[in-house]
Amino acid sequence: MITTLAINNYRSLHDIIIPMGPLNLVTGANGAGKSNLYKALRLLAETARGGVISSLANEGGLSTTFWAGPREISDRMKRGEVNIEGTPADSSKRLRLGFASEAFSYAVALGITPPVPYPSAFNLDPEIKRESIWQGPRHRPASALVERIDHVVKVKRSRQWEVISKHQPMFESMFTQVADPQQCPEVLSLKTFINNWRFYDHFRTDSQAPARQPQLGTRTTVLHHDGRDLAAAIQTIIEIGAEEALYDAIDDAFPGASVSVSISNDGHFTLQFKQRGLLRPLSAKELSDGTLRYLLWVAALLTPRPPSLMVINEPETSLHPDLLPALGRLIKTAANSTQVWVVSHAKPLISSLECDTRCNSIYLEKTLSETTIAGQDLLTTPSWHWPS
Ligand SMILES: Nc1ncnc2c1ncn2[C@@H]1O[C@H](COP(=O)(O)OP(=O)(O)OP(=O)(O)O)[C@@H](O)[C@H]1O
Ligand SMILES: [Mg+2]
Repeated sequence: MITTLAINNYRSLHDIIIPMGPLNLVTGANGAGKSNLYKALRLLAETARGGVISSLANEGGLSTTFWAGPREISDRMKRGEVNIEGTPADSSKRLRLGFASEAFSYAVALGITPPVPYPSAFNLDPEIKRESIWQGPRHRPASALVERIDHVVKVKRSRQWEVISKHQPMFESMFTQVADPQQCPEVLSLKTFINNWRFYDHFRTDSQAPARQPQLGTRTTVLHHDGRDLAAAIQTIIEIGAEEALYDAIDDAFPGASVSVSISNDGHFTLQFKQRGLLRPLSAKELSDGTLRYLLWVAALLTPRPPSLMVINEPETSLHPDLLPALGRLIKTAANSTQVWVVSHAKPLISSLECDTRCNSIYLEKTLSETTIAGQDLLTTPSWHWPS
């Protein structure tokens, strides 16, 4: 389980350190930074998958994702006695992302490439300047296990540092190059842990949505992020997963309704949804947006292969408020077997999650354009130290 998440210099997340529990609920007003947090978590996941540089390019480039304010906001600036102004130090920026977990902890720092002394079309690519893996909540020289500084990766063995690579490409994380289970079990273990994180964000439910189309079905323990394999995922839960929980979740939201899967001769799966009062079940094409979306959440959350972290962004979209307590119960069931991160601003869902004693409620607010956690002070901020 992740115990602390730390982000520095990413959009409105100038410097934020978040304690995490089994069930994390992120709320806050429009523009408070909820989606920025979600995107920062995705970037962390992309680092282990080798896609952080292209993800940053898709966001408009690293320089646009940097915190646009000054490095330090003095008390006099805060009181409005002097203008908010930067210093020359603001020009050398790093985007830093990290987390501490019960096993290993990790941090990465990205910066802008100085122009290379030979012609290259990739002069604007960001570089991975620093990566670090350590044990325990706080990075210290004594707890460090793997350090990457620019091109060099070194591993600590019996209190001695051993250089295992001097040619780590600056555009790639050490996760993509160094994954030898003998030489670096920590890198492999963390890579597997991060690769296992699962993200769900706004399922499509329009008439052409992938979830509405019949699909060739194979055993599907993990619902695709666009929901295209919904029928196969539901059938997999029925055959090898939490079948009872599935029927309960559907009955909870739509009393008397049930779900099944029909299979054509050529192996195409179609979802069938039986509602009270109708003579035949409806197929996925005929369901309302909200019903389909709820079924997608059921399939995602009752996965027979729970991930190490499930991140779900605004699951309330297009669901009627009456359905949200049932969705909340579903999320709480999922939190029994996976760490959950929910971003929401729907009151009924928030109330449903907050009445669970495991719920770690993170209310984001903005102070001088910087995202902060309401009520957080020195005592409630987890211990965190960026690798120097
Ligand atoms: N480079 C940047 N530096 C500082 N702040 C930024 C930067 N880029 C975006 N922002 C701020 O981030 C905010 C957007 O945050 P975000 O999209 O996470 O909000 P949200 O909480 O998801 O809001 P909503 O509920 O409307 O979706 C904007 O208000 C903008 O001011
Ligand atoms: Mg948002």
